[in-house]
Amino acid sequence: MPVSFTQHSLGSRIDQHLSGFLETWRAPLSDPDVEAAYRVLNDFVLGGGKRIRPQLCYWGWRGAGGDDCEEIIKAAAALELCHAGLLIHDDIMDGSELRRGRATVHKNLAGLHDGPGAEAFGQAGGILLGTLSLAWSDAMLSSCGVDPPRLRAAHHVFDAMRTEVISGQYLDMLGQLRSGASVDEALTVIRFKTAKYTVERPLQIGGALAGASPELLDSYSRFGVPLGEAFQLRDDVLGTFGSVAETGKSALDDLREGKHTVLIAHAVRHASPAQREHLRRWHGDPELTEERAAGLRRILLDTGAVAKVEEMIEQRVREAATALAKAQIKPEAASALAVLADQLAHRTR
Ligand code: IPE
Ligand code: IPE
Ligand code: MG
Ligand code: MG
Repeated sequence: MPVSFTQHSLGSRIDQHLSGFLETWRAPLSDPDVEAAYRVLNDFVLGGGKRIRPQLCYWGWRGAGGDDCEEIIKAAAALELCHAGLLIHDDIMDGSELRRGRATVHKNLAGLHDGPGAEAFGQAGGILLGTLSLAWSDAMLSSCGVDPPRLRAAHHVFDAMRTEVISGQYLDMLGQLRSGASVDEALTVIRFKTAKYTVERPLQIGGALAGASPELLDSYSRFGVPLGEAFQLRDDVLGTFGSVAETGKSALDDLREGKHTVLIAHAVRHASPAQREHLRRWHGDPELTEERAAGLRRILLDTGAVAKVEEMIEQRVREAATALAKAQIKPEAASALAVLADQLAHRTR
C-alpha cells in the first residue's frame, strides 16, 4: 500500500505557498531561454517530493504550542526550496540522471540545448538554478511573517543547518577518495549530510519560530538525529535494493558512484577475501551493468550487511520513540511525529 507522507492536508497547503512564492519570482528579463530555465526549476519544485522537512517544521511549531496558521506553513515551505537546491547540486555531484521519476534538473537543461557542450551547459545551469533555489529559500523564510525575534532565532538554526548539510555533502564526496571508510565514518557523513537537515533542524526551526524553550529544542534533537539517521540508512537500502518506480531514483547510482554507505562499510568489514576483492573491483565502476550490480547486491546480503543496517534502523527508531515519549510536547504533535517517524524509517519511496 503506498504510504501517504502528508497529514491534515499539509501537503497541498505547502504546495500552494510554494507556487505562490515562485509566481512572485519570475524571470527578471524576457528571454525565452531564461524563462525556460525558470520553468525547469518550477517544475522540479512543484512536481514531486514527499515534503518531509516542511512537515517536520510544522509539527515542531505545533509541538511548541504554536497554532495552525499560514505563517508557519510559509516558513515550512521555505525549507523545501532549500532542499530542492541541495538536490539539484547533489545530482550534479553524484552524476545522477533520475530524480523523482524524471530527468534530473541538469539533464533537463542539457536537453534544452543540443550539441557539443550541452552536458557542461546543463551542469553549469544546474549549479545556478540550485543556488537560486537556495537563495529563494532564505527569502521565503525571511518573509513568512512570524515575529522578528522568533524569526531571528529560527534563522540562526537555519544557518547552522545549511553549514552542516554542506559540510556533510563535502564529507560524502571525500568518502569517494578516502578508500575503506569505517562504519563510524559513514555514520558521521549521514548525520551531517542528512539527519540534521532532514529531521533535527526542521523540527527546531519550527520550534524556534514558536518560541520553544531550549529544553524542547534539545528534545527535538534527541528525537531528530536518530530518526534522521534511520531515514538515510533506509535511503541507502532503497538506493541499492529499491524499485525505481517507487523511489524515482536509479538503483545503480550508489553502486556506480562507489558511495561509501554504512551498508558498504559493513559488507567490507565482514567480507571474505574473495568478496572483498569483488567489491574492490566492481563497487564504483561507472559502467556497472545490471548483472554486476546483482553480484554486488548478493554480497551485501550474504555478508549480513543488509540485515545489520535493518537492525540499526530499528535501534534508531526505538531511540527516537523514547526521546519523543520524554519530550514536553503538545499531544497532537507527538502523535503526528510518531506516525511520521514510522513512515520515514519504513518507507519504500
Ligand atoms: C532525498 O530526500 C535526499 C536525502 C536526504 C536522502 P527525500 O527522500 O526527502 O526526497 P524527496 O523530496 O521526497 O524527493
Ligand atoms: C542527498 O544524499 C543528500 C542531500 C541532498 C543533502 P544522497 O546523494 O545520499 O541522496 P540521493 O540518493 O541522491 O537522494
Ligand atoms: Mg545523490
Ligand atoms: Mg549525494
